[in-house]
Amino acid sequence: MIEVKNIYFKYAKEFVQKNTSFSVSKGEKIALFGVNGSGKTSLLKLLDGLIFPQKGEILFEGQKLTKQSLKDKDFRKEFRTSVGLLFQNPDIMLFNPSVYEELSFGLKQLQHRNLDEKINYWAEKLNLSGLLDKSPVKLSGGEKQRIALASILILEPKLLLLDEPFSSLDPRATGWLIDFLNSLDSTLIMALHNMELAREIAERVIVLSENHEIIYDGDINDFANNKEELVKAGLWHRHSGKEPHFHNF
Ligand SMILES: Nc1ncnc2c1ncn2[C@@H]1O[C@H](COP(=O)(O)OP(=O)(O)OP(=O)(O)O)[C@@H](O)[C@H]1O
Ligand SMILES: [Mg+2]
Repeated sequence: MIEVKNIYFKYAKEFVQKNTSFSVSKGEKIALFGVNGSGKTSLLKLLDGLIFPQKGEILFEGQKLTKQSLKDKDFRKEFRTSVGLLFQNPDIMLFNPSVYEELSFGLKQLQHRNLDEKINYWAEKLNLSGLLDKSPVKLSGGEKQRIALASILILEPKLLLLDEPFSSLDPRATGWLIDFLNSLDSTLIMALHNMELAREIAERVIVLSENHEIIYDGDINDFANNKEELVKAGLWHRHSGKEPHFHNF
C-alpha cells in the first residue's frame, strides 16, 4: 500500500528523517515509537502528503506522492478519500462553529450523501450525540480528541494515520478505541508512547531514534521484551538512586 524509499526531510537545517525506508501492506497495524522530537509527527505528515521529502520518494498504491502529483484532481481526490490523519493537537483540526458542522465538513468536501445518518452514527459511537450543537472550542481536551477522531473516521479511510490518539482519552474512550481499531479492516499507523496499549492493537512496531533514524522495524512483542532495545530507543528509563531500576513510562 505504501512504500517509503530512502527519504530525507528537514524543516530547517537539520534532517528530521534520515534515509527512512519501509513498506506497509494493506491491513497492517503498525505502532510508531520514538522519544519526543524523534520525528513521528513529521513522518505521519509526510505519509499524509502535507509535507514532502527533499530526497527519496513515497509511493501510495504505486503512485508517487509529491506536491505535483497531488495537483492532479483525480489523484488528489482518491488520495484524500483514502487517507486520514488525526493530528496530535486536535485544536489545529477543529475550526467549525459546531460539532455537527465539524463532522459534516469532510463529507461535504467529498460530496457525500446521507450526512445526517452518518453523523448521528459516528456521534453515537464516539459518545458525542449530546454535543452536536456545541462549539468545539468550548469543549474539554478529551471531547475535542473524540470529535477530531470522529471527523476522520466518518470518512472511512483505507489508511488511518493517528498521532497519539489516546493522549487525552479517559479509560472508557480508550477501551472503545482499542476495540474499534482492532475491528477495523483499514491499514493503521499510529504514533504513541504506551507500549501496553500499542501491543493491544499493533503487531509491528517502527521505532525512531533521537537522531531521526529507524532503529527497529519488526515484531512488537519481540521489541517490547527486549530490554536492551527499549533502553537504546529511550523508552525505558534507568532511575538514579540506591537501587537503579528500569521503569517503563
Ligand atoms: N514546523 C516545524 N518547523 C521546524 N522544526 C520542526 C517543526 N515541526 C517539528 N520540528 C522539529 O522536527 C523534529 C521532529 O519533530 P516531530 O514533531 O516530528 O517529533 P515527534 O516524534 O512527533 O515528537 P513528540 O513525541 O514530542 O510528538 C523536532 O526536532 C522538532 O523540533
Ligand atoms: Mg509528535
